[in-house]
Amino acid sequence: MEKIKTGVPGLDEMLYGGIIKGRPYLVAGGPGTGKTTLCVQFLMEGLKNNEKALYLSLEEQADELKEDMALFGWNLDKIRVIDTSQDLSTGVWSLRTVGLISKPEFNLKNLVNVIKEKIEDYGPQRVIIDSLTSVKMLYDDRMTARKEILGFMNVLSRLGCTTILTSESSGPDTLMEEFLACGVIKLFVIEEKGERLNALLIQKMRGSKFDNHIRPVKITDKGMIVYATESVFK
Ligand SMILES: Nc1ncnc2c1ncn2[C@@H]1O[C@H](COP(=O)(O)OP(=O)(O)OP(=O)(O)O)[C@@H](O)[C@H]1O
Ligand SMILES: [Mg+2]
Repeated sequence: MEKIKTGVPGLDEMLYGGIIKGRPYLVAGGPGTGKTTLCVQFLMEGLKNNEKALYLSLEEQADELKEDMALFGWNLDKIRVIDTSQDLSTGVWSLRTVGLISKPEFNLKNLVNVIKEKIEDYGPQRVIIDSLTSVKMLYDDRMTARKEILGFMNVLSRLGCTTILTSESSGPDTLMEEFLACGVIKLFVIEEKGERLNALLIQKMRGSKFDNHIRPVKITDKGMIVYATESVFK
């Protein structure tokens, strides 16, 4: 099984070299914990090896994402960025591809199919879906959501791309997608004595050894760094 680097210093050491290629992974965390930063850093790492990268932004507008990521010195021009926007009066979503002709509108129920189509058309090695929380909200009941998300992850595996999906989580509750993904990385904020500390935990990683300690994280002007040998508990 071939491993690929995430491109996040410290995290690759915690993962004994990286994540197994061709599988779907989940990065879950609260607001502003660095989910998007980690994901874009993963795609930038792929670009170093001339891999194709696709970023599906379901919540943030592509132009804002590009501006935010420029702060880390990352130019997203070589990444295929697709964003969606929903017309609130009709409930219809449209999928926009930056720099390309705008795509036809589609209904909520078709979102997953559209994602599949995009990946098949472009053939990227690395894919980000940010965030799965929006996809999950397409379903009224948990059973259907779980079945559909599992089906979607299986499709992603068959397409051969290594995918990171993000999920919003706040608090200790386990999300259903944590059971379905091949690996789960959690990002969170620890508050102690009025100080905020960003932290990372590898919750699971099928088929691989990994460091199972909570490690401190810093977001710097070059992106995310994990301190793989430091403890958050003093
Ligand atoms: N140069 C920098 N130095 C330190 N922190 C930074 C720097 N640039 C951005 N940040 C911070 O990094 C955090 C991570 O942002 P990011 O968008 O990756 O989080 P997120 O988990 O995707 O958030 P959301 O839930 O809103 O999508 C933000 O709070 C941002 O303010
Ligand atoms: Mg984000």
